Amino acid sequence: MRRITIIGTGYVGLVSGAGLSEFGHHVICSDVDKNKIKELKSGQIPIYERGLESLVKQNVAKGRLHFSWDVHKVIQDSEIIFITVGTPQGNNGESDLGAVESVAKAIGENLNGYKVICTKSTVPVGTGKWIEDIIRTIQPNADFDYVSNPEFLREGAAIKDFMHPDRVVIGTRTSKALEVMREVYRALYINETPILSTSVETAEMVKYASNAFLALKISYINEIANLCEMVGADVHEVARAMGLDGRISPKFLHPGPGFGGSCFPKDMHALVATGLKNNSPLPTIEAAIKTNVSQKTRMVGKLKRLINDLNGKTVAVLGLAFKPQTDDVREAASKVVVSELVKSGVIVHAYDPIAIENFKNHFPDINYFGSWQGAVKDADACIILTEWNEFRGMDLGELKTLMKVPIILDTKNILNIQELESLDFTYDNVGRRKSE
Ligand SMILES: NC(=O)c1ccc[n+]([C@@H]2O[C@H](COP(=O)([O-])OP(=O)(O)OC[C@H]3O[C@@H](n4cnc5c(N)ncnc54)[C@H](O)[C@@H]3O)[C@@H](O)[C@H]2O)c1
Repeated sequence: MRRITIIGTGYVGLVSGAGLSEFGHHVICSDVDKNKIKELKSGQIPIYERGLESLVKQNVAKGRLHFSWDVHKVIQDSEIIFITVGTPQGNNGESDLGAVESVAKAIGENLNGYKVICTKSTVPVGTGKWIEDIIRTIQPNADFDYVSNPEFLREGAAIKDFMHPDRVVIGTRTSKALEVMREVYRALYINETPILSTSVETAEMVKYASNAFLALKISYINEIANLCEMVGADVHEVARAMGLDGRISPKFLHPGPGFGGSCFPKDMHALVATGLKNNSPLPTIEAAIKTNVSQKTRMVGKLKRLINDLNGKTVAVLGLAFKPQTDDVREAASKVVVSELVKSGVIVHAYDPIAIENFKNHFPDINYFGSWQGAVKDADACIILTEWNEFRGMDLGELKTLMKVPIILDTKNILNIQELESLDFTYDNVGRRKSE
């Protein structure tokens, strides 16, 4: 059992804290956001993530998981410090490392004996060295080892991903730190999880290279989908046939309205910025970013073609989260689409099973509904932007009866084309052939 402090109790910090306490460690999750810590102390979970609430509650009850806003004290009380603060996009696409810097300073000011300092936040190559320098500037004789331990969890499946990762990457400079980290993840040995030991710089690069590759696959299949529309091919059949090739794999070959989320967009920009800084540009990634931006606005163009004039029309937007099973709306396609619709004079009726509250922070003035039926009632058109199961299972007959005009844009390709046609819907999707 190790004494672990997590600094930054967001999606990654809270899931990691709950997961590490489940592994048997004594964990304190800390954050500068006092309200968040207050909520957690009173048993409320500030984010939606399947299974998180029960995991947190069980470990709090067992006395292994605690919360604190006293970042300084928790640094002193721990053996291992995980940095899990946000690293949003800053100027020129680079990561904004302001939060990481302030944590590094707090660590430098409070280090009291040997500790392992481990960054889980996604940070550009070279950040580890920079953090070490910040700490040593404050405490020249500071006794610590630095570790880069990038996190690969996916929102919506975060607990499963943390408890059963495909791999754990540990970038260290000393065998002592590597041993400590192996102990932190000992519980995973039972599943024979590959634990990869690398340099700090390599670990930092693995995270960006992985995320950018996945995002690249999405932009690629979106471009293929757009071409399928022009030549009468079906992108689902293309993607399935491609994915059966073991060298390609079927994952991340789902066309749609462009990827969003708190990671892919900003991580791609940060990787491009690192490339330019090091005189080693990444034009492939730059192109994938451009494709993604235009894919989102392309959806508005499709809707315009379906209903001609948008001005004064009522459009039901089904799905606001950047993907299902999360309440996260950061960089979601819905934000671009809703913003364009509002600009075009559309009356937006929005529904999402759990992301409405977060979306309201960005669009307080559109109309929100408690069910898809409420949102589509009397609408001139409907657009699906998140593949919630609830939308897959919609009764299309009921949908048609509720809408003023049966027009639907299914950007996630989740509805049955034959059924739409048999009900005389005017419809469109991304890259699918109309039935013949
Ligand atoms: N969300 C994901 O799916 C995911 C997956 C893998 C990696 N990551 C990376 O993990 C990092 C965190 O992402 P997230 O989605 O959990 O972010 P988040 O915004 O949900 O959480 C970050 C937390 O850090 C806190 N914070 C900021 N400054 C602080 C400080 N000085 N001291 C203490 N706490 C502070 C914030 O209040 C917030 O609660 C990012 O670098 C991200 O790229 C995220």
